[in-house]
Amino acid sequence: MAPTSTSVLTRRGRLAKDVRRDLEGSQKRLQPKYLYDALGSQLFEAICELPEYRITRAERGLLAAHAGEMGVGLVSPVTLVELGGGSGEKLALLIEPLVQTLRDVSVALVDVSSTAIALATRTLGRYPDLPVTGHETTYEDGLRQAVATRSGDDTILVAFLGSNFGNLDPAEALAFLGRVRSALRAGDRLVLGADLVKPEAELVLSYDDPLGVTAAFNKNLLVRLNRELGANFDLDQFAHRAVWNATASRVEMHLESLCDQTVLLPAANCLVRFTAGESIWTESSYKYNEDGIADMGAAAGFARRDQWVDAEARFAVTVFDAE
Ligand SMILES: C[S@@+](CC[C@H](N)C(=O)[O-])C[C@H]1O[C@@H](n2cnc3c(N)ncnc32)[C@H](O)[C@@H]1O
Repeated sequence: MAPTSTSVLTRRGRLAKDVRRDLEGSQKRLQPKYLYDALGSQLFEAICELPEYRITRAERGLLAAHAGEMGVGLVSPVTLVELGGGSGEKLALLIEPLVQTLRDVSVALVDVSSTAIALATRTLGRYPDLPVTGHETTYEDGLRQAVATRSGDDTILVAFLGSNFGNLDPAEALAFLGRVRSALRAGDRLVLGADLVKPEAELVLSYDDPLGVTAAFNKNLLVRLNRELGANFDLDQFAHRAVWNATASRVEMHLESLCDQTVLLPAANCLVRFTAGESIWTESSYKYNEDGIADMGAAAGFARRDQWVDAEARFAVTVFDAE
C-alpha cells in the first residue's frame, strides 16, 4: 500500500525532529532504524550474503533444523508476528512446519521499511493461501496493532530475529522484552535470535567487510538525510568505522568526520559542526552469552522453553513461553 502524502509528511517531520535532537548531543548519534530506507534495506540484504557476516547463515541453519520444535504445542489459529523481518526468508523457515501441521496460520509483518515489507510479502508468496498483513511502523506499535486485531482464540508467535535484539542497549532490550511479554498472554510464544560474544577480529570484520558493503549501508544514512532533509553531507568527508567496545560488549558503527566541517540540514532547521575525528554513532550491536539471554527473558516474565546455539558462528535462537 503506498503511503499517503500525510503519512510521508508526518514521517519526515519525525525524522527531522529525531535527527536534530540526536545531532545536538556531545556524542552525535542517529537512530539505527533510519538506516533502512529502500536502498538501506537492499544493502542489508547484500550484507547477509557477505562471507564475513555469518549471523544470517547461522540463524537460517538453526531455523531450518529446529523450526518444527519451535512451534510444537502451539494451538491453532496461530498468528506469526515478525518484528523487523527484512526479507522474510527466516520467517519462511519458521512458518514451514506450522503451515504443514496447523489448520489456520496467518502472518503480521512489522517493519519501518516498506521495502522490507514488500520483500517479505514476496517471499511469503510461496504460500498462496497464507494471509499476510503488513504494518509499516516501529516494533512496538506494530505488535500493538497486531495484538489488537487478534480474534478471541488466536495464539501469537512473535519472532524477533537476526541482529535486531542486539541493536537495543541492554536496558532498552529488557524493557522491550517486558513490553512484548505484557502484550502476550499464556500460550503465546517468542522466538528470539541473538548474536554471541566471539573474538574481536571476527566481530569487527562482520561490520567492516573488505568489499565495503557495510560502509555503504552506513553512509547511505547520510544520503538519506541529504535527500529527505535537504542536508549537504559530503560523503567523501566521512568514513565508516566499526569498533568493538569490550566493556559494553558491543560493536559500534560510526561515521567519522575526516575534517573540520559544517553541515546544513535545512528541513531539520539545524546546522551541525564537526571537528576532524568526531563521529556520528549510528548503530550498536550488543553481543550476549547464552545464559544472559535466558536470564533477560526470565526477568521480563517469560519462561525459557528451549535454546539452540550455532557453535561455529556463535549465534543463539531462544524460545520463550508466555505463561
Ligand atoms: C538488521 S535488519 C534484520 C532483518 C531480519 N530480522 C534478519 O535477521 O535478517 C533489521 C530490520 O528491522 C527493521 N527495523 C529496524 N529498526 C526498527 C524499528 N525500530 N521498528 C521496526 N522495524 C525496524 C529494518 O527495517 C530491517 O528490516
